[in-house]
Amino acid sequence: KYMTAEPFRIKMVEPIKKSTKAERQQWLKEAQYNAFRLKADDVYVDCITDSGTSAMSTHQWSAMMLGDESYAGCRSFYELEKSVRDIFGMPMVQPTHQGRAADYIMAQIYCKPKKYAIGNMHFDTFRGNAEVMGTYPVDLVIDEGLDSASPSHPFKGNLDINKMQSLVDEKGADQICVIIITVTCNNNGGQPVSMQNIREVSEFAKKYNIPLVMDSARLAENAYFIKTREEGYADKSIKEITREMFSYCETATMSSKKDGLVNIGGLFVTRNKDVFVQANQLAIVHEGFITYGGMSGRDMEALAVGLQEACDEQYLEYRIKQVKYLGDKLKAAGIPIIEPTGGHGVYVDGRRFFPQIPQHEFPSQRLVVALYEESGVRAVELGACAFGSKDEEGNPIWPELETMRICVSRRVYTNNHLDVIVNALSDIYKNRDSYKGMKIVHEGPILALRHFTAGFELL
Ligand code: F0G
Repeated sequence: KYMTAEPFRIKMVEPIKKSTKAERQQWLKEAQYNAFRLKADDVYVDCITDSGTSAMSTHQWSAMMLGDESYAGCRSFYELEKSVRDIFGMPMVQPTHQGRAADYIMAQIYCKPKKYAIGNMHFDTFRGNAEVMGTYPVDLVIDEGLDSASPSHPFKGNLDINKMQSLVDEKGADQICVIIITVTCNNNGGQPVSMQNIREVSEFAKKYNIPLVMDSARLAENAYFIKTREEGYADKSIKEITREMFSYCETATMSSKKDGLVNIGGLFVTRNKDVFVQANQLAIVHEGFITYGGMSGRDMEALAVGLQEACDEQYLEYRIKQVKYLGDKLKAAGIPIIEPTGGHGVYVDGRRFFPQIPQHEFPSQRLVVALYEESGVRAVELGACAFGSKDEEGNPIWPELETMRICVSRRVYTNNHLDVIVNALSDIYKNRDSYKGMKIVHEGPILALRHFTAGFELL
């Protein structure tokens, strides 16, 4: 009962730079108030993403020394294949250089022009790939998943079967080319999907003969939530749960940069032989030969070990509880967050935080700027800038969820670092009436990607 701290100790440290508010105001100006355009060296605690930012273990670093860099059939691939089969329970493994490459291969195989791709909430890189294919991505998450103020639901990432049925009734089942379940659901708070929901979606998919794919960047975190929140799973191991999750789908894609506990890598995993053959061909053209797919041997070794470590229950308990620690403290300070806290970060509701700033003046982006200005902490906007779109006449469509995402990198920051965020946000919240919105003064040609390069001015 005393062993409540991290299940690791720190062997190597990476210095980070403290700065003054005046310096940060200058850097913000130079970056046109876009956190993506700041230099990482000028960031104190970096919460822009949990992707590719994990600390690797001694076991992973030592495995890297064993990397076999042979072009074809390298031993490191077979190590990775063994580890992936063990966790996914699926036989065929194509590595890719990162998640969006697996998205690309998946979209090439499953997406059809003018047909619909159903998801709980599609991640942007799949959305981009679908648009390239002329496929319409539709988000059919349950209503609770779009309401940041509804605390009661333990699985806000679930797909809404009734909404899926309505779409099938309206368009016809043959107009749906694929269903994709993203675990956990990144866009609405790292919210998990229940096993019951995965099972029901799979029955629905089978009934209408629609292939089911899982976007599984955060598969271990999802499994931990099933174990701790869903009846009947408390005594199952994490791997028993992941294998059951994937038993319901035909194919899985993964960005290994999250629950792979590595800095780069992706996976395309399937149980369908024909799909695998197509994936191999696409990998050879775009990624690399079948047995490395854009990854070095040493990176595959690190991933083989990292996947196993991510499924360790002591690690997961530490991981999920650290994110909850941040969420609980923010909540205690009165700050409006998506509840319950999810897997990889805490999402603050920008509209409830700054009710005086209308959505077209980017309340969550304003909060990102305020947090960095006050404390050197870098978060990211998932709201009007990142998810804003336009209808056919060019009128803006604003997203239902308007948040600032504070990601927590795996095994990287201490709770003292998280307290910096709590203290800074509490102070901003006390002065929240004094903030005004922002306007975009420059954006790139592709609307869906504008948040990466846009320039802003403060109003
Ligand atoms: N799918 C999900 C659910 C993701 O969250 C990401 C990346 C990808 C696919 C693409 O993977 O980056 O390896 O190419 N998410 C990062 C984020 C970038 O910050 O949430 P990738």
